[in-house]
Amino acid sequence: MAASDKFASLIGSIRPEATNIVIFGASGDLTKRKLLPALAHMHRWNLLGPNSRIIGAVREHWTKSHWQNYVHDQLLRYFPDAVLNPSSWRRISDKLDLVNGDLADPEMYQQLVKSLHAHEGKKNTLFYLAIPPSWYACVCQNLHDAGLADESEGFRRIVVEKPFGMDYESAKGLNTQLQTYFQESQIYRIDHYLGKEAVQNLMIFRFANAVLEPLWNRNYIDHVQISVSESLGIGYRAGYYESSGAFRDMIQSHLMQVMTLVAMEPPVSLDADDVRDEKMKVLRSMREIKPEDVGSIAVRAQYGAGEMDGESVPAYRDEENVADDSCTETFAAVKFHVDNWRWQGVPFVLRTGKRLPQRVSEICIRFKEPPQKLFQCDEDTVRHNELVFRLQPDEGMHLSMTSKQPGLSTALRGVQLNAPYGMMGSGMPEAYETLLHDVMLGEAGLFSRADEVEESWKIVAPILDVWVKEKDISSYPAGSFSIPEVDKLLDDCEGDWRDLGVHYEE
Ligand code: BG6
Repeated sequence: MAASDKFASLIGSIRPEATNIVIFGASGDLTKRKLLPALAHMHRWNLLGPNSRIIGAVREHWTKSHWQNYVHDQLLRYFPDAVLNPSSWRRISDKLDLVNGDLADPEMYQQLVKSLHAHEGKKNTLFYLAIPPSWYACVCQNLHDAGLADESEGFRRIVVEKPFGMDYESAKGLNTQLQTYFQESQIYRIDHYLGKEAVQNLMIFRFANAVLEPLWNRNYIDHVQISVSESLGIGYRAGYYESSGAFRDMIQSHLMQVMTLVAMEPPVSLDADDVRDEKMKVLRSMREIKPEDVGSIAVRAQYGAGEMDGESVPAYRDEENVADDSCTETFAAVKFHVDNWRWQGVPFVLRTGKRLPQRVSEICIRFKEPPQKLFQCDEDTVRHNELVFRLQPDEGMHLSMTSKQPGLSTALRGVQLNAPYGMMGSGMPEAYETLLHDVMLGEAGLFSRADEVEESWKIVAPILDVWVKEKDISSYPAGSFSIPEVDKLLDDCEGDWRDLGVHYEE
């Protein structure tokens, strides 16, 4: 099978209709690192509809050829295959167009209208807002006033990035602003974790295999661990991160979304709203957090100086543009409960941090111990029964079980059933490719709905309210997992936190 056929079969061979992809913030970091490579990849696999265009909207007074050179240089850096072949690059470059001006200037939106009308065919348009949220209302109002929210000549969809608010009030305010100018069905809120292959596979794994369902509940599952460990520090993002911190940056968005996929009931259908209704029910079943409980169910810490791969790295407080007395957390962990029939009494423990020893994201479903201990065994050699979904790197599923050690004794040993994704023989699309492709097809199932975002902010508000008053924060050496307080979150659970350094055999 040709590589392109393999990919097409992987995503169901659906090629979206021609779409104008307008990127606000086209000279920014997200565009160069994620959006351009994702679009070039889609183009390569013939997944950008014929006559699709990529229209950069920039403040700078660039010419179209400057924009083409810019895109060329960024692709050379982030996806060189797209430009090294001259004919491939020529076909991408032919799709590039530009409008420039100030985001608040109606004149730029008139340029857009002209640009759309200068081309034949349907005027399907996707507006990607790769700009700070403080600009969303202004851009949406201008698009609306220029008639660009009107869908009579083709679809009009806006895509917005996180952070979607900093708390419940600001998220609600943003939703109100967006919904003043666009219908909810035209708004796509990106959570790139939902675009990851292994996260999508979780739904398939749960609902396309009958064998798991009888076990997927409080009778057999002791607890669920969701971990996203990153080795990088905050880099140049202090401006954003200082006011966000690990809890807002990762837990309220990505990890809680992943958690809803683990906990949700089977949806009536795969329609976006059927899936989102089920996720919403999980959020609505989550146990209310009282301020006095925060100390026992949530932990935060900040990285100090340390070593990564043999190199010294600075403490968070010594990173560029971070305050000397900053109490922003770079590690956060929390224990949630979902008080419904299926999950009563099963803790969901979530943890994430920067400058931890390795980059690993995974979901671990840890099952209960057998009710009777028939076999004498050494605790270290026998593993808990756990089902692990590795989200990255080395995407795959792994089931740990206990078996007999071959020989004349009844010694036991831990064994693993491994199903690495690599074995399935398909190229894996990047999250942004999957999500852009879905926006073009009008598939909204992998995007958060307004009520989900607001509900998740409501749930975590008491934790953030308590933390904001704290004048100090404990620290861990960069490159280590030395955060002893986090163990208390597993006090009523079987076993310890999983060792994220485990490597699976292919
Ligand atoms: C982003 C966060 O949403 O996700 C970053 O803002 C984080 O701080 C990133 O590093 C992690 O994404 P991934 O796909 O690398 O796990």
